[in-house]
Amino acid sequence: MGPRTEQEQVILVTGAANGIGAAIAELAVARGHRVMLTDVDEVAVLSRARSLGSRAAACVMDIRSSAGWTKAFEAAEAAFGGVDVLVNNAGITHTGIARDLQQQHRDIVEVNLLGTITGVCTALERMTARGHGHIINVCSMTAFLPLPGYATYCATKYGLRAFHHSVAIEERDGPLDFTIIHPPSTRTGMLEQEMADPSCAISFAEKSYAPQQIARAVVDAIATKPVEVVFPPLAGRVQRIAGVFPRLMRRVIPVAEARGRRQREHLLAQPGTDR
Ligand SMILES: NC(=O)c1ccc[n+]([C@@H]2O[C@H](COP(=O)([O-])OP(=O)(O)OC[C@H]3O[C@@H](n4cnc5c(N)ncnc54)[C@H](O)[C@@H]3O)[C@@H](O)[C@H]2O)c1
Repeated sequence: MGPRTEQEQVILVTGAANGIGAAIAELAVARGHRVMLTDVDEVAVLSRARSLGSRAAACVMDIRSSAGWTKAFEAAEAAFGGVDVLVNNAGITHTGIARDLQQQHRDIVEVNLLGTITGVCTALERMTARGHGHIINVCSMTAFLPLPGYATYCATKYGLRAFHHSVAIEERDGPLDFTIIHPPSTRTGMLEQEMADPSCAISFAEKSYAPQQIARAVVDAIATKPVEVVFPPLAGRVQRIAGVFPRLMRRVIPVAEARGRRQREHLLAQPGTDR
């Protein structure tokens, strides 16, 4: 079967039970796509898919498992036909300064970096065999700016960006498209976890986004196929540049961190305030 119309793609989304992934699945279904929601959280992913109707289905997958990836692609094929778009969204963080974390360093790398790499490699093989496909990796603005309280998380996102662009260049003469999207702080369970830990107060230096705003950029990208998307569109470019100059980073980040601390205290004192 050849490519489907732009409105009726088959999309496999990881981490689709909650947060940004759930918002992506919801918007994609609303726009007429068919979505295989996958997540390690079985109860949540089944219930999320059920709530989206007949253009959605669910498959339990831990992105660290290569067999899990094969099963998820097969489940999508059985439900809707071959996968046109992979949205590699699942990710975790464990907040805290690096010297206080132990096993968590390895867990973050295994999910955010190795799990996502396994997904890209599975998709490369299956999509290339079908003659088309689009791989969208949900990364992070921390791929440009290393932040205190997030050392290993940032390392995985730096690594993911490098991997993504290396593969896209390797595959430049092939039939696949590649997009990478970098959300800033977004109001999901991940940000709640960060709110509980003062070591990563820098997350609150800027106003956060709603998951639906990130979902719009991801679902729009299915049609427009941008190479890379940063948030906010202008200030995101400035952050990108700051990340290139270590001396500048070391001056600017403590200032942002102090602002984040003040803003976090303010939010904690006034629960319910829009972040
Ligand atoms: N929330 C933010 O502030 C923010 C900012 C930048 C980037 N991101 C990135 O956006 C993506 C989504 O984050 P979110 O904020 O929606 O997080 P979230 O915690 O709300 O949701 C993540 C989902 O991934 C699932 N998941 C976790 N480990 C998994 C695994 N091993 N296999 C399969 N599924 C797994 C969880 O069950 C959950 O449903 C992540 O890659 C994250 O790094 C988030």
